[in-house]
Amino acid sequence: MQQQEFRRRRQELMNLMGEGSVAVLAAAPERVRNRDVQYRFRQDSDFQYLTGFPEPEAVLVLVPGRSQGECVLFCRERDPDREVWDGPRAGQDGAVRDHGADDAFPVDDIDDILPGLLEGKDKVYCMLGVDPDFDHSLFGWVNQIRARARAGARAPGEFVALEHHLHEMRLLKSQEEIATMRRAAQVAASAHRRAMEVTRPGMSEYQVEAEFQAIFRRHNGEQAYLPIVGGGANGCILHYVNNDAVLNDGDLLLIDAGCELDCYASDITRTFPVNGRFSGEQRAVYDIVLEAQRRAIEAVVPGAHWNRPHEEAVQVLTRGLKDLGLLAGDLDGLIESEAYRPFFMHRTGHWLGMDVHDVGDYKLDGQWRELEPGMVMTVEPGLYISRNVPDVPARWHDIGIRIEDDVAVTREGYEVLSEGAPKDGDEIEALMRG
Ligand code: GLY
Ligand code: MN
Ligand code: MN
Repeated sequence: MQQQEFRRRRQELMNLMGEGSVAVLAAAPERVRNRDVQYRFRQDSDFQYLTGFPEPEAVLVLVPGRSQGECVLFCRERDPDREVWDGPRAGQDGAVRDHGADDAFPVDDIDDILPGLLEGKDKVYCMLGVDPDFDHSLFGWVNQIRARARAGARAPGEFVALEHHLHEMRLLKSQEEIATMRRAAQVAASAHRRAMEVTRPGMSEYQVEAEFQAIFRRHNGEQAYLPIVGGGANGCILHYVNNDAVLNDGDLLLIDAGCELDCYASDITRTFPVNGRFSGEQRAVYDIVLEAQRRAIEAVVPGAHWNRPHEEAVQVLTRGLKDLGLLAGDLDGLIESEAYRPFFMHRTGHWLGMDVHDVGDYKLDGQWRELEPGMVMTVEPGLYISRNVPDVPARWHDIGIRIEDDVAVTREGYEVLSEGAPKDGDEIEALMRG
């Protein structure tokens, strides 16, 4: 992402905030996995969106109209001893030179400096409730100013939720963001293709998962979330992540795996037969889910409301369940009573962006919001016929199918960012025949 894109975002946010306000936002902390082992550092998405600054222990302060610079970054000082162990830090010079800060201070000095930036302002935009320790610090800085009220110091009187403006901005992606998401989806799609090529009965779910990890890392990507690699009955467990079972001849394999590149996620699910040939029952259910997904994608157009793709999917899935004999009754009545829910218990999608379940409101003033160019969402209908659902003949048991693509709303309609992953049943079988 170019520095000017981060600058443009900060400027847009400050325009929305207006004079007399200040925004304060903390970087993500480093997180411990167990004892002395840490997770790889992942920047907080909001902080990343506004700064691109890749370090923990940093605080961004935006002060519209500040003559010495509106973008102030508190960050770690250079430390040659620590840098021997942990690698280079930007320091204050680097923050200004390489990361677009107008002014930078050591984060250890924040208690002395930040109250001065808040003093005399009306509003503080911040993320209250995300990190109680940071909230506590913020109130402490404001209280420092209140303590000097008799000397004429004026503390901000209003705390405003930063996410209202910021998450609305994040919901509408720029061309550069869409391009990054397209790359993330292409990498993940190529991994799904590879999984279809290598899967054989007798392999383990984790061996297929390894293909994803290898391809993501080969592109300097990460898993956007814990992948689901579920054979047979495991494909009916929505959040299955153990990925440690053997793949059986005759079972389906459901894989939900997405790659994150430059802090942007993809989120793709494909389902295919372990042995390369769908059974009649598997193919019948598969084709219903595929039609539901295609119909739902067709509903992703500017001006349609958020719930249209879900409504399309529900219609096709319910009719399909009726055709299979798994539901009986009047179609409208079955939809109205949500009779499909034992087999389709989640929604058809979510916003996608820096977070896999990305930020942004789904309703405005109580109504589903309209889709606009620049929004990106998943379209992911499924049918899960668990043996635990009563009164289902055994031949349908353990058929768990989801098909998930990443879809950007464009001016003309939509773009499927993840189209490189095969989903037509015949195409999958041809690919697996080799
Ligand atoms: N992979 C998470 C989801 O599909 O929502
Ligand atoms: Mn999803
Ligand atoms: Mn998914």
